[in-house]
Amino acid sequence: MRKPLISGNWKMNHNHFEAIQTVQKLAYLVGKDELELADVSIHPPFTDIRSVQTVIDSDKLGYALGAQHCHFEDKGAFTGEVSPVFLAKLGVQYVICGHSERRELFGETDEMVNKKVAAIQQHGMTPIFCVGETLDEREAGHTESKVLGQVRAGLAGRSPQQVGSLVIAYEPIWAIGTGRTATSDDAQQVCAAIRVCVADLAGAQAAESVRVQYGGSVKSSNIAELIAQPDIDGALVGGASLDADEFARICKLGA
Ligand code: PGA
Repeated sequence: MRKPLISGNWKMNHNHFEAIQTVQKLAYLVGKDELELADVSIHPPFTDIRSVQTVIDSDKLGYALGAQHCHFEDKGAFTGEVSPVFLAKLGVQYVICGHSERRELFGETDEMVNKKVAAIQQHGMTPIFCVGETLDEREAGHTESKVLGQVRAGLAGRSPQQVGSLVIAYEPIWAIGTGRTATSDDAQQVCAAIRVCVADLAGAQAAESVRVQYGGSVKSSNIAELIAQPDIDGALVGGASLDADEFARICKLGA
């Protein structure tokens, strides 16, 4: 049985004061009972990570600390970048990589994403590896070829055990931040195809244990229907994770 993972991707929102307030508020709303049923990770901006870590540690909250991005090298002349080594040192457990905003706005290629997946795992953290198609690709009937191509490229060189322990987030680009969500049937169909592709690449055991999230305008009004699908093991939540009340509702309904 795969434990669902509900992840809050705050993107470039909430300074470190706002981050502390949001996590403290969330702590009142989502407690041990829910966290038995679902893992919850919080992905604040880099400048907030240390503050959020301190709240999680001192209040012994059961949330996992997450990051939104990292470089694939351990150190060096990469102005503005953040090393996976530093994230591991802060107790970060999950790192998003290959998010469509990084791919589209910051030029991340499949090759870079592949190196990031490897670097994140090498330092003992779990990648949340994102894949997804544009609206044009969907309308042209290329959803599966695009998404499964990204899955194969991102996972090349990973062992079956490494593949089985990561998280893949299916995020149709046209559904991100637009209020449009894939229907639960469409989302299920693509998530199932991802699992079949993982079986092909890494074997049945890896396909059984890999967690596949859906992302793209997830809210408290649609999470229950999405999480009920057999191949959807959680959600990567952007806008709706910024508000503690709404994110708490999503965590409860997704657990
Ligand atoms: P959204 O973002 O929930 O605001 O659509 C999801 C994401 O980009 O991870």
